[in-house]
Amino acid sequence: MSYTRKEISIEKIHQQEEICAKIKETLCADGKKPLALVDTYGCQQNEADSEKLRGYLSLMGCDFTDDEFKADIIIVNTCAVREHAEMRVLGNVGSLNHTKKNKPGQIVSVCGCMVQQEHMADKVKKSYPVVDLVFGPHELWRFPELLLQHIESNKRVFSRCDSDGVIAEGIPRKRDGKVKAWLSIMNGCNNFCSYCIVPYTRGRERSRRPEDVVAEARELVNAGYKDITLLGQNVNSYGRDLDCGVDFADLIRMINDIPGDFLIRFMTSHPKDATEKLFKTMAECEKCAHQLHLPVQSGNDHILKVMNRCYDSAKYISQVELARSYMPDLVLTTDIIVGFPGETDQEFEDTIKLCEKVRYDAMFTFIYSKRQGTPAASMPDPYTREDKQKHFDRLNQVANRISAEKHKEYEGGTFRVLVDGETGKDEYNLSSRTNGGRLVHLHGDKSLIGQFINVKITGSNTWALYGEIENG
Ligand code: SAH
Ligand code: SF4
Ligand code: F3S
Repeated sequence: MSYTRKEISIEKIHQQEEICAKIKETLCADGKKPLALVDTYGCQQNEADSEKLRGYLSLMGCDFTDDEFKADIIIVNTCAVREHAEMRVLGNVGSLNHTKKNKPGQIVSVCGCMVQQEHMADKVKKSYPVVDLVFGPHELWRFPELLLQHIESNKRVFSRCDSDGVIAEGIPRKRDGKVKAWLSIMNGCNNFCSYCIVPYTRGRERSRRPEDVVAEARELVNAGYKDITLLGQNVNSYGRDLDCGVDFADLIRMINDIPGDFLIRFMTSHPKDATEKLFKTMAECEKCAHQLHLPVQSGNDHILKVMNRCYDSAKYISQVELARSYMPDLVLTTDIIVGFPGETDQEFEDTIKLCEKVRYDAMFTFIYSKRQGTPAASMPDPYTREDKQKHFDRLNQVANRISAEKHKEYEGGTFRVLVDGETGKDEYNLSSRTNGGRLVHLHGDKSLIGQFINVKITGSNTWALYGEIENG
């Protein structure tokens, strides 16, 4: 695949920061701090992008609000992975007509994967006049410049470039939490699974340089973060575009060498590229969580082939066995699509069989959603929504039963967990995660947030574990 790596120079990012200062003068002219709201749909990559938007907005002098009626600037960071995600976005953008009527001068911007698709950008342009500014993921680095264009011209700005994507280091960030952090190690995807829109919206695979990733990980550890999730659409192909001799397993080892008490997680791993070296590295690196999100999508070999996943069920199962041989305590999760075009009852049964065999700790299940422009969108799809829903419900029953059984096995045991936040409930007021990422509810003082503690598991259900703090 021919793709020339396009790096945005740090000077260009500094120019954007200068533009932020200029916008600040305009927005803060009356001495008041403007309020901004960034609403995020979609995956963790999008969450990470929203942290960059908030970083720029902070430089513009903004404080943040959750109230659409109070916000001076609203940014809707969108997802295109399924129709449902797009419908939610459009519904919410439509409702901003009310807030803008209440607050003339409110700036509404829509960015992210949905508007990287030309037909959706056109739709926003034609049908949502409330929107002032539109830009795709490849132009996030120059959001200040685009916003200034809108402020100075008072015209709608639509900027959707058809590039394969860029790498931009040094964008300021305002992170969401203090305990858990996202660390994007690469962007884009080269896999073109036949159902998936991501390669079209996020462009080609681009890895950040290992020294940049490690420097950011070190900053996070120094700032007190305890749980770092490395992000990429397929982290297993990290580094292939760089020719620097560092693969994903090497990168984990480099981050593991950073002094400090913290956990390394990552997502997502494509089964076709998971290696024995990766599993061995996970087992050997004491800071790497024994947690693997390994989307299988289907248990049927014909469906896997037409999905263009490049593995069959036997290869997948052997990967799982290999991973478990290195990490017997591995927590394994997956994604599954039900109702891919033409999927028969028999083919669906193979997915059930695979799930019963693998026994996932948790499964993320989706009904196939047709995405315009993908190969699967033109495949015959004779089954009805009701047929698909039946399969979906049945798969979820199996998934929920297995999760509950797996959680039950924790009961009576003591586990080290990281306390990561409050639940808002009285009885179990704190939430925490095991090394493998399972959710544990606890009762305790909120000063424990950010600490690793030992917990005895006293109860469980499909969704969570319940525990008591062990003293000493
Ligand atoms: N890069 C990741 C997944 C990104 S999208 C990977 O390859 O594993 C997250 C999940 O959404 C996918 O794993 C898939 O299960 C689901 N998904 C993607 N496109 C979909 C579609 N058109 N319809 C339904 N589910 C879809
Ligand atoms: Fe989509 Fe496949 Fe890429 Fe994942 S690996 S983002 S499912 S094309
Ligand atoms: Fe959605 Fe784009 Fe992520 S389509 S899942 S926000 S990469």
